[in-house]
Amino acid sequence: MASAASWSGRTVLDLGCGSGFHLPRFAATAGRVYGVEPHPALLRLAARRTRSLTNVSLLAGTAQAVPLPDASVDVVHARWAYFFGPGCEPGLAELDRVVRRGGAAFVVDNDPERSTFGGWFRRGFPDVDPVAVERFWSLHGWSRERLEIAWTFDSRADFEAVVRIELPTDVAEEVLVEHPDATGVDYAVNLWWRRF
Ligand SMILES: C[S@@+](CC[C@H](N)C(=O)[O-])C[C@H]1O[C@@H](n2cnc3c(N)ncnc32)[C@H](O)[C@@H]1O
Repeated sequence: MASAASWSGRTVLDLGCGSGFHLPRFAATAGRVYGVEPHPALLRLAARRTRSLTNVSLLAGTAQAVPLPDASVDVVHARWAYFFGPGCEPGLAELDRVVRRGGAAFVVDNDPERSTFGGWFRRGFPDVDPVAVERFWSLHGWSRERLEIAWTFDSRADFEAVVRIELPTDVAEEVLVEHPDATGVDYAVNLWWRRF
């Protein structure tokens, strides 16, 4: 992301920031960081995480109704939050409104067509159509970076807990039986991004 559009000294919006995990990293070099999150309990966690960071502001809101003025943000980051392809057009209209000309937006999501985790995801969520998702983003002028990441855990118990969070129960149990010694997995990600 930084090689495509630096946020150093600039204004970053983390849309659907959840518990704010990524906010301190942006805040380390950004001028100002906004975290927008609809879920009150997660917003409170994000506020607690960033309470010592004077350049971070947290706002209740959604991708469809971003609580920021027009042309007020340089870089938007939405990671596994709302922007999952067809259906997210209201959020894209909000990006057009809040991102300054010359700014950029990044969306991080699963790539079900690659990696061991991608195969588990396809089994768990067969209704997700990767071809339709790719067509959606390219029709809207977004580019894709194919990334390979990995889950690594210190213990089998942690790995099992996260598999059970991420996948429907039946698929999670199948996966755990099929990979009895795993404490991590290779994981393919699509980074969708565009300039404004
Ligand atoms: C899987 S979590 C990811 C959280 C965070 N981006 C991260 O990477 O740690 C999905 C987040 O999207 C938020 N969310 C759900 N609907 C949303 C919407 N319409 N607009 C913005 N965020 C939304 C959820 O409340 C949740 O915090």
